[in-house]
Amino acid sequence: MPVHPAAPAPVRATTPLPVLGRDVLVPLVTGGEVAYAALDYAASAPALQRVWDDVAAYAPYYGSVHRGAGYLSQLSTDLFEQSRVEVAAFLGCRADDQVVFTRSTTDSLNLLAAVVPDGTRVFVFETEHHASLLPWRDGDVTYLSAPRTPADAVALLERALAAREPGGPVLVCVTGASNVTGELWPVRELAAAAHAHGARIVLDAAQLAPHHPVDVAELDVDWVAFSGHKLYAPFGSGVLAGRADWLREAEPYLAGGGASRRVARRADGGVEVDWHTTEARHEAGSPNVIGVYAIASACRALREAGFDGLVEREQALVARVREGLAGIEQVRVLSLFGEDAPRVGVLSFVVDGWNSSHFAAALSAEYGIGVRDGLFCAHPLVRTLLGDHTEPGDCGGDTTLNAVRVSFGAGTPDEHVERFLTAVAALVTDGARWRYRTENGRCVPAEGGF
Ligand code: ALA
Repeated sequence: MPVHPAAPAPVRATTPLPVLGRDVLVPLVTGGEVAYAALDYAASAPALQRVWDDVAAYAPYYGSVHRGAGYLSQLSTDLFEQSRVEVAAFLGCRADDQVVFTRSTTDSLNLLAAVVPDGTRVFVFETEHHASLLPWRDGDVTYLSAPRTPADAVALLERALAAREPGGPVLVCVTGASNVTGELWPVRELAAAAHAHGARIVLDAAQLAPHHPVDVAELDVDWVAFSGHKLYAPFGSGVLAGRADWLREAEPYLAGGGASRRVARRADGGVEVDWHTTEARHEAGSPNVIGVYAIASACRALREAGFDGLVEREQALVARVREGLAGIEQVRVLSLFGEDAPRVGVLSFVVDGWNSSHFAAALSAEYGIGVRDGLFCAHPLVRTLLGDHTEPGDCGGDTTLNAVRVSFGAGTPDEHVERFLTAVAALVTDGARWRYRTENGRCVPAEGGF
């Protein structure tokens, strides 16, 4: 079976990488159908066609991993372990790093929070996504305020680390690219600051890895976490990769089969367990081999396509969206580090006079465009960027102001971005062409239109 299919002809990264769903038609409230424009990559990106093809080619050979004598179990176990090697290469891991497969970035960071040695002091910016903000034990965390520039972020961290009580392990948790503004954080500089103060650092690369090469050794971060579903591999797996020692020394994240090497009854009636010291220690239960293989396939596809071309093309789309939105007076794009700060293909904005749920519903119902609206699981950051104002209540009553987010990546055709800009301009100038009502706190098209 084609476990590692021959590399396809190199994809020219000047064109979008083929993804599933690009021909799916969705109905418009105003009549007819249109090809869906997926502009919510920051939530979940479409699957790469290549990932889907690899998974389909493997599926008939599916078998249990690390727990079967049969041929397909052996084959699936090999595939699972080869996938670990592929992901380590994609991330530029050091030779002694571990690559643990999890369910998602959230799961990966919760795993790290569970294995930090007792008494570890954690430093995290209040602007982080909730997955990075919340897993740590409350009394052990120092929250750093919102920086105004990348240099300010480094200075805030330096100051906080210098001021801490000496002694004990220290961990810094930072994002690589914001899921709200798309802005890039100064990861290498933050890692240098952390290490200069004897701290370790974990990189939340959920929004970075799909858009930008991540090199653990070169960035000199201790761990990195990311999710398959944002990396064009939506089959329920994620990754935590990095230093082995804390992982090896901690109690298993999940206790059960696969994590244990030997279990025996003790004379006092209890059980004695000898846990694995490899990645298996934190991978109890039957592994999600399809999800893991899908991630490895996506890593391979992105490496073969070449990040230089992918980044160049995505940056052209970012520039086009920025320029297009800048020309619409009623739109304000959100930014922590300043309007021109480098960012990946993720932009959030507010529109004067519009409730963001209403705006996002109209983009969907009238133009077939999928975006996200709200606070994006980063409430403190969005509140910092927006303040506590209320927004118009044409759909849903007065609500605290929140935002609309457009996000894209390697599979986005130019037409989606052009349609989005045309739709934003038309909604702002002419208003919605349909009537909307509130259902469960969200705007939805009303029966009968206008
Ligand atoms: N973290 C994902 C987002 O920003 C779910 O939408």
